[in-house]
Amino acid sequence: MALTRIGLAGLAVMGQNLALNIADKGFPISVYNRTTSKVDETVARAKAEGDLPLYGFHDPKSFVQSIQKPRVIIMLVKAGAAVDQTIETLSGHLEEGDCIIDGGNEWYENTERREKAMAARGLLYLGMGVSGGEEGARRGPSMMPGGSFEAYKNIEDILLKVAAQVPDSGPCVTYIGKGGSGNFVKMVHNGIEYGDMQLIAEAYDVLRSVGKLSNAELHQVFSEWNKGELLSFLVEITADIFGIKDDKGDGYLVDKVLDKTGMKGTGKWTVQQAADLSVAAPTIAASLDARFLSGLKEERVESAKVFSSAGLAGTLSGAGGHPPVVDKEKLVDDVRQALYASKICSYAQGMNLIRAKSLEKGWDLKLGELARIWKGGCIIRAIFLDRIKQAYDRNPELSSLLVDPEFAKEIVDRQAAWRRVITLAVNAGVGTPGMSASLAYFDTYRRESLPANLVQAQRDYFGAHTYERTDMPGAFHTEWFKIAKQSHL
Ligand code: ATR
Repeated sequence: MALTRIGLAGLAVMGQNLALNIADKGFPISVYNRTTSKVDETVARAKAEGDLPLYGFHDPKSFVQSIQKPRVIIMLVKAGAAVDQTIETLSGHLEEGDCIIDGGNEWYENTERREKAMAARGLLYLGMGVSGGEEGARRGPSMMPGGSFEAYKNIEDILLKVAAQVPDSGPCVTYIGKGGSGNFVKMVHNGIEYGDMQLIAEAYDVLRSVGKLSNAELHQVFSEWNKGELLSFLVEITADIFGIKDDKGDGYLVDKVLDKTGMKGTGKWTVQQAADLSVAAPTIAASLDARFLSGLKEERVESAKVFSSAGLAGTLSGAGGHPPVVDKEKLVDDVRQALYASKICSYAQGMNLIRAKSLEKGWDLKLGELARIWKGGCIIRAIFLDRIKQAYDRNPELSSLLVDPEFAKEIVDRQAAWRRVITLAVNAGVGTPGMSASLAYFDTYRRESLPANLVQAQRDYFGAHTYERTDMPGAFHTEWFKIAKQSHL
């Protein structure tokens, strides 16, 4: 057998589909998995899906030796210890100049540690975020490779073909930057994804709980939204979900799905990183909190009883105890605008987080390029990302997406509707933590003066932390307590 162009180790859902995609694009590929049944399964699929040039190996040595030099092996195993173990298994058979690419959702510092350890052995390493789920991996994902540029160059031709292709903006892959930048960017992408999903869920909640829209109407509304500025994979699948009937009983399936959200950790890491970098990311944090609260299903069931017996008659009373009266058509249009404006704020937070990390690490990340490679293949793909790319094209140094003239205008145009939706939700007792966080973020960021003067005065009062003045330079301290006492306040 002739040597193959590339190898892939780890044949769970993502690995198997990415391997088939690579083979489908005409690159002969060797595959390996710890549990050998998955190797045979993948080989069988390759045969069934068009006799693709994919070759299975049951032992790591013959797997590695079947790949042409310098060897490149993509690894798609569980993040953490499994990655270290797989590197150990493979690297014994690798030679100088060979490269391993971790395609999993790995913590970026683990990638940096491994890159150093590999370099000491003359081996190259990349940490590559891959987004798109099963279908994306098979047909064309968005890929975020970071680490050794030399390694990237060795497989650039493959990545450019395997990635999702977007007309007018090219393949959804680019060299992200050094070190763990590929993993970091993928992590924030996932945090943004949490935000998008939460905002969509809140739009749904307001429409169903306050607007009383049926699933059939929701299907119509989201399908319609998917033709305009909200056109995106997540809005599209949301429309589909509202149209699907329960196959095990009456009604729609979405109503039978338990309201308890799972997670794997990248959203939590995003919020932790935001805190570490002192970057406000309230919409993303709200979406994480919403997942935590969703997990307290049993407590919420009990809490609903407590508040019902304490006098809260249902959650949908208006301020005067009456259900709010809504004009459905107007509500739908308002919610669409609220969703869009909230989304701008969420992306502004995510992009600012990436920029802060890039500055800290000297990665020199190109935010517009990131928006470009997220336009296709990945879960957050949306027409909206084109606008973000344009904003950074207009001004690569943009301090926030909110102050890009186009986005600023879009927000201003939508703010009345945005405020109406949140007011309505508040009065109806329907929490909209993501939309509310976005609006508060906007209302805080756009104001020249904040009540932080009072907080700083309090800090100086009890802790002599000093304060700056608005009218003269320097650090000041006042004996607030003494003065208050003397003045008999
Ligand atoms: P999914 O894509 O389904 O979410 P995952 O849980 O992220 O998958 O990754 C599972 C993959 O990691 C499998 O290929 C698994 O190998 P097995 O099929 O042998 O279980 C691989 N994996 C997990 N732990 C591993 C380890 N310690 N060494 C090698 N491979 C491991």
